[in-house]
Amino acid sequence: MKIAVIGGAGYIGSHTVRELLDGGHQVFVFDNLSSGLKQNLFPDAHFFHGDILNREDLAIFFNKVQPEGVVHLAALKAAGESMTHPEKFSTQNIVGSLYLIQQAVASKVRYFVFSSSAAVYGAPQYNPIDENHPTNPENYYGYTKLSIENHLAWYSRLKGLHFAALRYFNAAGYDPNSRIIGLESNPSNLIPVAMEALTGKRKELLIFGNDYQTPDGTGVRDYIHVTDLAVGHLMAFDYLKKQKQNLIVNLGTNEGASVLEIVQHAQQITGKILPHRIVDRRPGDPDSLVANPQKAMDILGWQPKYSDLKTILETTWKAYQANL
Ligand code: WQD
Repeated sequence: MKIAVIGGAGYIGSHTVRELLDGGHQVFVFDNLSSGLKQNLFPDAHFFHGDILNREDLAIFFNKVQPEGVVHLAALKAAGESMTHPEKFSTQNIVGSLYLIQQAVASKVRYFVFSSSAAVYGAPQYNPIDENHPTNPENYYGYTKLSIENHLAWYSRLKGLHFAALRYFNAAGYDPNSRIIGLESNPSNLIPVAMEALTGKRKELLIFGNDYQTPDGTGVRDYIHVTDLAVGHLMAFDYLKKQKQNLIVNLGTNEGASVLEIVQHAQQITGKILPHRIVDRRPGDPDSLVANPQKAMDILGWQPKYSDLKTILETTWKAYQANL
């Protein structure tokens, strides 16, 4: 299948491009390189430098490529920033996504895979979270993701587009074969920040609170390896093509890990001291967020293979060392 990967030069985008290529698809990357990296591009995937907010870029790209499938990963993801600068998120994550959906429909795209997020659920009423859990996002980023899921449902009903919304939990790790080593600049997520503290790029890791209702008091999250996530996209296309049904699934491991567990594992694996300090909580952080991925396992046959903490931290450490 000819697949356009919007945001394919990014961290998750480049891993998804790799899996789609390895799965035998023809891949066309559309990215504005605002956070994506040229070094994440593969020679066997065509690259088009464009912006989803530029409708002419979209029209030129789609008329040229005529993709059958689209993966949309071009969004802002910093949940904290979405609460202080919502306008950036409305523009990029909602307006940009709608321009993309409209162009995809105009170009008769048939299958649309959307990078959604566990943030659509908001504070968990129960863990592990399944897809029946209420969706009450606690941050504007989560609202933008839920909003596009709802628009996709309407476009499916009105225009026959088949879509899959993949609700990622905490994406982490790097390609086990080290084919992708591009680092995020100014990361805010735990594991990249911890890596910067280990390499000395950052003085220390600040741990946002240790008074949560968790075994060691620090926040518990479901870390899923980015390659497992990427394989989920490949399976989603196969499903959409075969079943012609829409799909909304969680991608996570049903295993939670606390911040201090990550710190301890990272020190063991690297043999280095990870300077860290407990500080106040960050607003909006729930105690624990763990996925129930049973629906993806049943419907897609999806199984995480690389999402153990050892592999996640070893592959990330290797990528950080490669950039030293
Ligand atoms: C993980 C844990 C923090 C940084 C976010 C988005 C979510 C998704 C994944 C895209 C928490 C603690 C973190 C630090 C810390 N993004 N932490 N010090 O908040 O679970 O989810 O990224 O889909 O939508 O909200 O991820 O990595 O920021 O935090 O103590 O410097 O690490 O409190 O317990 P989060 P995170």
